[in-house]
Amino acid sequence: MKKDVPTHVAIIMDGNGRWANAKKMPRNAGHKVGSETLQDIVEYAEELGISYITVYAFSTENWSRPKEEVDGIMKLLDNYLSSAIKKASYKSIRAKVIGRKDELSPKLVEKIEKLEHLTRDKKGICVIFAINYGGRDEIVRAIAKMATDLEKDTLKIQDISEDMVTKYLDTADIPDPDFLIRTSGELRTSNFLPWQLAYSEFYFTNKMWPDFSRSDFDLAINEYTNRKRRFGKSE
Ligand code: FPP
Repeated sequence: MKKDVPTHVAIIMDGNGRWANAKKMPRNAGHKVGSETLQDIVEYAEELGISYITVYAFSTENWSRPKEEVDGIMKLLDNYLSSAIKKASYKSIRAKVIGRKDELSPKLVEKIEKLEHLTRDKKGICVIFAINYGGRDEIVRAIAKMATDLEKDTLKIQDISEDMVTKYLDTADIPDPDFLIRTSGELRTSNFLPWQLAYSEFYFTNKMWPDFSRSDFDLAINEYTNRKRRFGKSE
């Protein structure tokens, strides 16, 4: 399987809230188990030879959720960052965060930057966390940066191309995802990587994210592999 695995998998980890509701647990319990699922899937993805995994951890729209839930997700992220910083010296994972950092707490941003710095030369899987991320917001920020560079004359109108726009996005140094997985049965992409997913294969499963297992990931990756094989034959 190794040779056909996607280089980059993007995941919309949906269904934490419904999973918790069904068990009469608070929504944050769903996010907590969801974060454990993520750690396991990242480890497995690395074993399979996947090079990049991008996950939607918090969207620009998620601020409108009850404060208790927002605080709970931020706390999970903070705990994850602290633990990843502690383990950075002996782990192979490279971590990166995309999204608007200026609306996050300075403490969280400090930890994000520390982890990114500590892991920047790691050779293992690159895990990209989309935090306070919205695809349109990313494009608007890229346009503003391009306009600034045009004004400063460090960018010329005739040099604006798809490749150039790509360089202004948060994902500048990351190849586009080959494959998008969304759990929980929702059939949409919800402002996640609209530019980068233009040619990606999509996969939807009814499994709620906290229940998503290594064998569910295998099913998804096999489907990707088969789609690629058919595509190869028709070329
Ligand atoms: C969508 O489920 C999930 C989120 C909005 C948050 C995802 C966050 C995590 C899995 C935790 C992140 C933590 C780390 C350490 C990266 P939902 O709440 O929209 O579920 P619902 O659609 O059933 O309500």
